[in-house]
Amino acid sequence: MVNAAMTHVPTTEAAPESTNVDPSVTAERPPPPPLPRVFAVANQKGGVGKTTTTINVGACLAELGYRTLVIDLDPQGNASTGLGVDHRGLETSMYHVIMHETPLENCVEPASIKNLFVAPASLELAGAEIELVAAFSRELRLRRAIDAVLDDYDYILIDCPPSLGLLTVNGLAAAREVMVPIQCEYYALEGLGQLLRNVDLVRRSLNPTLEVSVIVCVMYDARTKLSDQVVSEVREHFGDKVCRAVVPRTVRLSEAPSFGQPIITFDPSSRGSIAYRDVAKEVSRGATRRTR
Ligand SMILES: Nc1ncnc2c1ncn2[C@@H]1O[C@H](COP(=O)(O)OP(=O)(O)OP(=O)(O)O)[C@@H](O)[C@H]1O
Ligand SMILES: [Mg+2]
Repeated sequence: MVNAAMTHVPTTEAAPESTNVDPSVTAERPPPPPLPRVFAVANQKGGVGKTTTTINVGACLAELGYRTLVIDLDPQGNASTGLGVDHRGLETSMYHVIMHETPLENCVEPASIKNLFVAPASLELAGAEIELVAAFSRELRLRRAIDAVLDDYDYILIDCPPSLGLLTVNGLAAAREVMVPIQCEYYALEGLGQLLRNVDLVRRSLNPTLEVSVIVCVMYDARTKLSDQVVSEVREHFGDKVCRAVVPRTVRLSEAPSFGQPIITFDPSSRGSIAYRDVAKEVSRGATRRTR
């Protein structure tokens, strides 16, 4: 079992080098990697803002004009419903892509924003976690599916479930980069070492160029000193991988998914919209869209 193996892998990467440079005053960042870019949005802790970040960074990248695909790899299907796609009763979902090699393009649905697309999950995907164990090339199913549609998108964001099982391993094996949302709360860094070790394991065994490239501090509460402490600590550990924009804790961000909308259409001038727009700009850094 991949999971069992993972717990015994020694840390070779641990936290990236800490830096004394305050990233908020660092001048220019290097040019962004060429498009298309494929991110796994991962953190095995539950409820830390993976799905909220996937939906809203995806929507903001689409708003910037980039053709963007959100892949929902979580059987809960929150990224699908949050983008207005009802995942119950779908004929084709990520389950079929992973288990039956259905082409990814067959399950892609347009979201309510121009340039934004969703590959929805369904509850059956929970079964895939078990069915995959005995499957041939079980870790590379998603990678193959994505490779076939890479030319159609500028950005692909994979919303991973809160576990380190085979679905997340498929996400990490398919991605080129990992985006990690970190909650500005107690125990924010707890479990992060485990995620980094797993990224390291997937890099060594399946995906040699995989790297954690973007950290987003989310659920920031300006009224608490703790939030500032967490942001400082995260910046100390991860340096300029950490977005300068910090996403505030706001009720509007938690309300938007029940209307099937990203924050930028649900409440375009809200603090959540401003923050996620800034995150998307930092991620894209003005990369040239591909002509098609
Ligand atoms: N910045 C925020 N402000 C307020 N609420 C938020 C914020 N970000 C996320 N939430 C809410 O917190 C809850 C957890 O967020 P989300 O579903 O994005 O986390 P997750 O990591 O994807 O969870 P899971 O591990 O279950 O997949 C949701 O109810 C969401 O609406
Ligand atoms: Mg989620």
